[in-house]
Amino acid sequence: MSVILSPSLLSADFGNLQNDIEMLNDSAADWIHVDVMDGVFVPNISFAFPVMEALKKHSYKPLDVHLMIVDPDRYITRFKEAGANILNVHYEACTHLNRTVNQIKKEGMKAAVTLNPHTQVELLEDIINEVDMVLLMSVNPGFAAQKFIENTYNRLGRLKEMILRRNANCLIQVDGGVNLNNAKKLMDMGADALVAGNAVFATENPTETIAQFKAL
Ligand code: DX5
Ligand code: ZN
Repeated sequence: MSVILSPSLLSADFGNLQNDIEMLNDSAADWIHVDVMDGVFVPNISFAFPVMEALKKHSYKPLDVHLMIVDPDRYITRFKEAGANILNVHYEACTHLNRTVNQIKKEGMKAAVTLNPHTQVELLEDIINEVDMVLLMSVNPGFAAQKFIENTYNRLGRLKEMILRRNANCLIQVDGGVNLNNAKKLMDMGADALVAGNAVFATENPTETIAQFKAL
């Protein structure tokens, strides 16, 4: 089965976002990955509601929203209204993660929990049966085009084992430094969904690159 591919808009052309959205609409991409950064949780600021509302008008694909913000509970309803279909919150940013996950689901979105590269996978043991997806960061979040952290394979194996052992209905997504060279190994080790920013948008023909990911 082909991987769920979620190209990251962080590497798109912000001067001509509509053009890139239309390219994604016509491509084999499954979701559109939307990286929201607040300058507090991560050392970078990206974009949020006005841009999302604008892009939702043009996009036919589910918006997979990755919140790199502190205390995301404050904005769950706003992100639903802005068009989010999947809401990823960071484990490290949520004091009451169980409540946050339930709130996301109550709003009718898929709930995903994201782990920074240093956060132990085993910390999810008591929430794994509640979440729709776990996103493993394979770079330190904040920027596109960083180098993939090799220890991610080890983490992926442990997460997959936990999901199987607990019989959880939960997808695994990997984000950061994913490219056509490491994607197959990630899929073979249990990744269901991959985020790719630079590996898609920095190529000459992003549509063709997306097709190559889907053909792996
Ligand atoms: C990093 C973001 C990623 C990033 C991926 O903080 O969460 O989604 O845009 O970009 P690449 O694929 O270029 O590493
Ligand atoms: Zn992301």
